[in-house]
Amino acid sequence: MTRVVDARLTVDGTTRELPLERSTVGNDGVSVSTLLKDTGLVTVDPGFMNTASCESAITYIDGDAGILRYRGYPIEQLAEHSTFLEVAYLLIHGELPSEDLLAALNNRVARHMHVHEGIKTFLGAFPRDAHPMAVLSGATSALSTFYPESVGRGEHETELATVQLLAKTATVIAYLQRRVTGGDLIEPRKDGNYVDEFMRIAFSGPDGELDIDPTIRKALDLLLILHADHEQNCSTSTVRIVGSSQANIYASVSAGIGALSGPLHGGANEAALSMFDGIKESGDTVEQFVAKVKDKAEGARLMGFGHRVYKSYDPRGAVVKDVANKVLSELGGNDETFQMAQRLEEIALSDEYFIERKLYPNVDFYTGLLYSAMGFPRQMFTPLFALGRMPGWIAHYREMMADPRTKIGRPRQIYTGEVERDYTPLAER
Ligand code: ACO
Repeated sequence: MTRVVDARLTVDGTTRELPLERSTVGNDGVSVSTLLKDTGLVTVDPGFMNTASCESAITYIDGDAGILRYRGYPIEQLAEHSTFLEVAYLLIHGELPSEDLLAALNNRVARHMHVHEGIKTFLGAFPRDAHPMAVLSGATSALSTFYPESVGRGEHETELATVQLLAKTATVIAYLQRRVTGGDLIEPRKDGNYVDEFMRIAFSGPDGELDIDPTIRKALDLLLILHADHEQNCSTSTVRIVGSSQANIYASVSAGIGALSGPLHGGANEAALSMFDGIKESGDTVEQFVAKVKDKAEGARLMGFGHRVYKSYDPRGAVVKDVANKVLSELGGNDETFQMAQRLEEIALSDEYFIERKLYPNVDFYTGLLYSAMGFPRQMFTPLFALGRMPGWIAHYREMMADPRTKIGRPRQIYTGEVERDYTPLAER
């Protein structure tokens, strides 16, 4: 990529130099912060197609080359060699942990996995068929009220809130799985391994014992790693903008969970599986469904396809597809749906509509099939995404709060309403 040497903007015949912000790799930026003061103009960029909202040293994506790196480490290497808590430490603290530091994090998280009785009552107050993302968002915000000692900007509070969020949201999500499947809540143990303990709380019978299938454990750990961060996506930007008002981390992450729930973002994993089933129920062939998507008349999209940043194969999607292949053949999952998904991918990738728009499978296209094979019902797919994304949200909140240049997030607008008019009394309207 060639580097821009300078940037100038001419307004009404006057040319101004705009300062450049340099990246270590990837796109440099043109700073427009003083433009309003200097010219009276604002920049317009709906959907933030071309706006860098911050500097960040956490995650790098090259969407054209299909590259994703956490703190400089390629996702493929982390997926092969690392574990989820290790990746969480890396994202939050910037370096891979030593063995001692990792053991300390695991112990600390394990000790905090129990939740206050009030949280259990709170979870029980929602309708049984409430979508778990709504409950998770509410419960995450409520954590600040049960653990006020972890609310604050000091180092102690920040570390405590980090551990509380990793630990207690895992328990809440496991409890949500139990609620969806009709089981009673069981107590976390204080010395478990994070992923094992999550699975035990989610899946064990009333005696609290679970024989964990190593294939499932490994696949779940991997999925959590793949979801752990993705720079300034919709939910992370939400966490940052809420946190920029100095709202506490629980309120900020709760808002991020709301953003994640949408079908154009994390909710796409649930939507993709519903789409596969919808195709089967409709009796359409995959070719007919793809034709409907291209026609746009029915508003159908190929869920789990396309991405704002990736204009090539999502590197996470490639890993997930590979794992889905292995896990489904080992555990026996919904092979018919997997084959249909592969056929959809094949047709789309050779179709001019998708080629022209550079639409490829994203991480959500195959994950639902894997979660299903592991025994999670469809409503739990997006909460599992949230479990994986937790370290990313925490890392971004912390990075932003530690940066003295952080300002409250407050976009401008182009006003298009009435200019000014006089109030008409009610009787005269
Ligand atoms: N199926 C069919 N057409 C699509 C799809 C799709 N999945 N995605 C984009 N397009 C088309 C659009 O209709 C548009 O066509 P046009 O140029 O004829 O108007 C063009 O491709 C560009 O699409 P935009 O919506 O403008 O792209 P944007 O970057 O705003 O949206 C998004 C990205 C939201 C991910 C989109 O691709 C989409 O809706 N995908 C399906 C939902 C999904 O899988 N979301 C998960 C994303 S990954 C994640 O959040 C974890």
